[in-house]
Amino acid sequence: MQRKTVLFLILLPLILINSCVNAKNKTSGEILFINLCASCHGVTGIGNGPVASQLNTKPKDLTKLKQKMGDAFDANVIKDRIDGRTMPRAHGIPEMPVWGEWFAIQSMSKGRLQEDRDGINKDVEKNLDHLAKYVLSLQK
Ligand code: HEC
Repeated sequence: MQRKTVLFLILLPLILINSCVNAKNKTSGEILFINLCASCHGVTGIGNGPVASQLNTKPKDLTKLKQKMGDAFDANVIKDRIDGRTMPRAHGIPEMPVWGEWFAIQSMSKGRLQEDRDGINKDVEKNLDHLAKYVLSLQK
């Protein structure tokens, strides 16, 4: 499937879901997850989102990352995976969007590309932190 078609298929339901989901009592991470990740990974993170069956690579079950990675598993591992910018595409995740880029573009479009001394965009970092916290909370 064309990348643009995939993106469209992802974004359309997200906009619809977004307008239905009651944001009350939800953490920032959960809201981001429902908006950006659930289409592939499913609302509960097990990989059964509505777009999953259209992908060549199946989305991973995000509730078993700790089981799988053991001691190597922490928030930074999750953040790197979600960010996607440091991973060579050829080894990695062809059908998982590069969210670091997406958050950076969003932040730029709001005129908020603040970089700290290490060149890390704070908006991007904040979104990655929220998401990592949420994915950590999903671990079985
Ligand atoms: C277009 C579908 C899609 C969307 C949307 C998506 N992912 Fe993924 N994701 C995948 C696929 C497919 C894989 C497995 C890639 C692989 O095995 O190479 C994956 C892998 C991952 C992994 C690595 C799992 C592992 O075992 O190493 C994490 C963490 C992850 N996704 C988190 C997220 C988060 C958080 C979001 C939302 C910000 C998200 N994904 C949105 C498709 C998606």
